[in-house]
Amino acid sequence: MKAAILPAQDSPLETHDDVELAEPGPGEVRVKVVASGVCHSDLSVQNGTIPLPTPIVLGHEGAGIVEAVGEGVTKVAVGDHVVLSFVPACGECYTCKHGQPFLCEQSNSSATGGMLDGTTRLSRGGAPLFQMAALGTYGEYAIVPEISMVKIPDDVPLHVAALIGCGVLTGVGAALNTAEIQEGDSVAVIGCGGVGLNVIQGAKIAGASRIIAVDRFDSKLEMAREFGATDTVNAGDTDAVIEIMGLTEGRGADVVFEVIGLGPTIEQAINATRKGGEVVLVGVPRMDVMVNLNAAFTWLYLAKTIKGCWYGSSNVYEDVPKLLDLWKQGSLKLEELISKEITVDEVNEAFADMQAGTVARSVIRHAHAD
Ligand code: APR
Ligand code: ZN
Ligand code: ZN
Repeated sequence: MKAAILPAQDSPLETHDDVELAEPGPGEVRVKVVASGVCHSDLSVQNGTIPLPTPIVLGHEGAGIVEAVGEGVTKVAVGDHVVLSFVPACGECYTCKHGQPFLCEQSNSSATGGMLDGTTRLSRGGAPLFQMAALGTYGEYAIVPEISMVKIPDDVPLHVAALIGCGVLTGVGAALNTAEIQEGDSVAVIGCGGVGLNVIQGAKIAGASRIIAVDRFDSKLEMAREFGATDTVNAGDTDAVIEIMGLTEGRGADVVFEVIGLGPTIEQAINATRKGGEVVLVGVPRMDVMVNLNAAFTWLYLAKTIKGCWYGSSNVYEDVPKLLDLWKQGSLKLEELISKEITVDEVNEAFADMQAGTVARSVIRHAHAD
């Protein structure tokens, strides 16, 4: 099959059509990947922000059709349409049983670049290939744990469903699950990429009356308005914290989201939050990023709450159907997130577009020549 492979950190991706798949093992499923979003976290593996072994098939935001099931698979059957989840959720471990399936203990294995047992099902020329998040949606097919997918109705277009797998669950989940946005709240979102735009539409659904979008590209700020932002701040031109203060009568916003993953913007998010307010950290920083906070004035006198948000604090089995309902009702924009449809051969250009700020999301449609 054909797949886009990252051969080594800091190298361009290479597309090859001689990638081999093993049969799905017990509890595993072969999925024909129909579409995959190109997310910043894929780029973060390329540049080392998210360290994973190479060579690796990237891609963790996808949807497809179940083609074959391994021994003991009960959650899905051949022919089912599925959204892939970049965090497996077993429902049985300590964190799953404590209402935090987005931290499922089975997901620890994702750091190995393999399946749940740490081994990989992909190879090329006899050498193993790793797969991002036990998925690897830049391949036409993927062997995936059965606990890494959610069945969806057949009438949902799969290129639209793909985006739910990361950007939508993460962004909308940050607003609806992680944060406690009250009707009429002021919200600021720092970073308006594929994930940040979803935080904005989630904040709108949660009833925020003022949504301040912050980005360094005017193109992103225009998209932010379409997704529900009421005010925009170009962080390249001005001090984002002062601007947010100015838009909130000097108090700071009730809830501020950081959706980039940089130390300085994390500090901005904390400083732009009002006293007693809430900060939600969504962006994935490099492993060595530290933040400098004044203990007395962050936590004590100003009583701010800082929450980490992994995968939108989602329960994928409940949240994927919920998001699809919102989309069907017209409250959630999905098609509008897709700026470009591309082939897997064009993935390097999609990375460049993401960095240039010209797209919300590029979506790969696999051609399945074989
Ligand atoms: N100030 C303001 N905006 C910035 C800055 C900055 N210093 N640096 C980057 N941005 C903006 C970019 O212009 C872009 O619009 O942040 C946005 C990031 O968007 P994408 O590159 O599309 O990334 P996305 O896929 O949304 O992911 C955002 O969430 O899931 C994580 O790993 C992912 O950390 C990443 C974050
Ligand atoms: Zn679990
Ligand atoms: Zn992602």
